[in-house]
Amino acid sequence: LQEHAITRNGFLPETQPLGRLPHPYYSPWESLVGSLAASIQDRTLRPQVDRLPVLSTEYLTTEPEWRRACVVLGFLTHGYVWGGDVAAEVLPPSIAVPLLAVSDHLGIPPVATYACVNLWNFRSTSPALDLTDLDALHALHTFTGTRDESWFYVVSVAMEARGAAIIPTMLDALASLTARDLPAATAALASLTACIAALGALLARMDENCRPLVFYHRIRPFLAGSKNMAAAGLPNGVFYHEGDGDGDGDGDGRAGQWRQLRGGSNGQSSLIQFLDLVLGVEHTAHGNSNPDKPQEMSFHEEVRGYMPAPHRRFLQHVAETYPGGMRQGVAELLEGGRLSVEQGRLQDAFQTATRTLAEFRNQHLQMVARYIIIPSRQPNGDQGVNLATASSRLKTESGAKMATSGGELTGTGGTALLPFLKQSRDETSRAGEFPC
Ligand code: HEM
Ligand code: ALA
Repeated sequence: LQEHAITRNGFLPETQPLGRLPHPYYSPWESLVGSLAASIQDRTLRPQVDRLPVLSTEYLTTEPEWRRACVVLGFLTHGYVWGGDVAAEVLPPSIAVPLLAVSDHLGIPPVATYACVNLWNFRSTSPALDLTDLDALHALHTFTGTRDESWFYVVSVAMEARGAAIIPTMLDALASLTARDLPAATAALASLTACIAALGALLARMDENCRPLVFYHRIRPFLAGSKNMAAAGLPNGVFYHEGDGDGDGDGDGRAGQWRQLRGGSNGQSSLIQFLDLVLGVEHTAHGNSNPDKPQEMSFHEEVRGYMPAPHRRFLQHVAETYPGGMRQGVAELLEGGRLSVEQGRLQDAFQTATRTLAEFRNQHLQMVARYIIIPSRQPNGDQGVNLATASSRLKTESGAKMATSGGELTGTGGTALLPFLKQSRDETSRAGEFPC
């Protein structure tokens, strides 16, 4: 597990993420990100970033420092792109150059990923650093300075922490199937069911401090990527400007490239994908993306490329070592005639765990209705929540444009959200239809 950067907190780091880069060389970045929400609000972020020097990554020494740099540059990038009346199509060298170096080091694309916004962007005041204690968590950075946004991020942090212990348990369970230890596998599946139910209980706490109108109009526009975002003003994606291409210093020979990348989405959580692999849930490509641009790979597979490299390799390892997961292993143990009592218990435990994951996805779908579908039909904060600032009005406009050319809503991760999420839930249920 250590080799795959998995800690006692699962895919979260072992200790609190750095709240600041220690080398004073990086103070220009730190001071910008430290006042991010205010400078987005008063529209001074872009000119400040434009004036920023291109800093080198040579003073980043430890992994926590590289991750911190990723958080800082990820927030500055999305603040720059989405923090104006219209989306910025060109990312200036002051962020593009170091962001490309940092993301290359960490093995993730140069955007605000789930790792940058959630896994590495929290502070806990829990004395024993119990990261499942949601009330003791807050986000280090937000685009809006709202509690709603901080809560949106740290609900996931608490979920990742709650899921941590199930990782070694299920790896043992997969091995116990090979050893034909039915009671051990059954017990592990019962723990998995309890774990998924606890994740659902944490997900349900989203409503406590994250208001749907604030989420829809103000928060999610900043998480959007540059893929399937033509309607939001990025028909070609974002141009990562890496410097003066022709070397004459006048800035006309722009070096760099256009990129179309998915925005931040909890679909990039390695924990949930681990649960799918363990159970043997199979996600297909059909219907998972913008219907205007169908593609071959499933969303789930594609976004593994947005996870930190060691986590991606871990999922790959699990998939290769245990193809078909528990589903395959259980099927083999249930072959033959009538089921014994032990076999019957194993089958029940497997189906209960699978059903619980499908219910979790159903609960998530209901949240998408409350946080995206319903607010998308309401003009903005005049509907009871006071959000009537200039900025929220502008955010409303770009938020409303997060849609396909046919007007269908698009997730920040670039999917045609409802058909995609329903399919993902149905594929989960299908894994449990077995064995019969
Ligand atoms: C995917 C919305 C919270 C887990 C998605 C997608 C949307 C969405 C629209 C589709 C992908 C895209 O294009 O962006 C929301 C909303 C939330 C929320 C509105 C709360 C206000 C969470 C949380 C988790 C989570 C806290 C924690 C694990 C997932 C997963 C996927 C996903 C795993 C990938 C689809 C799947 O595996 O079934 N979410 N999400 N979401 N979300 Fe959420
Ligand atoms: N993926 C979530 C959305 O589309 C954050 O709003």
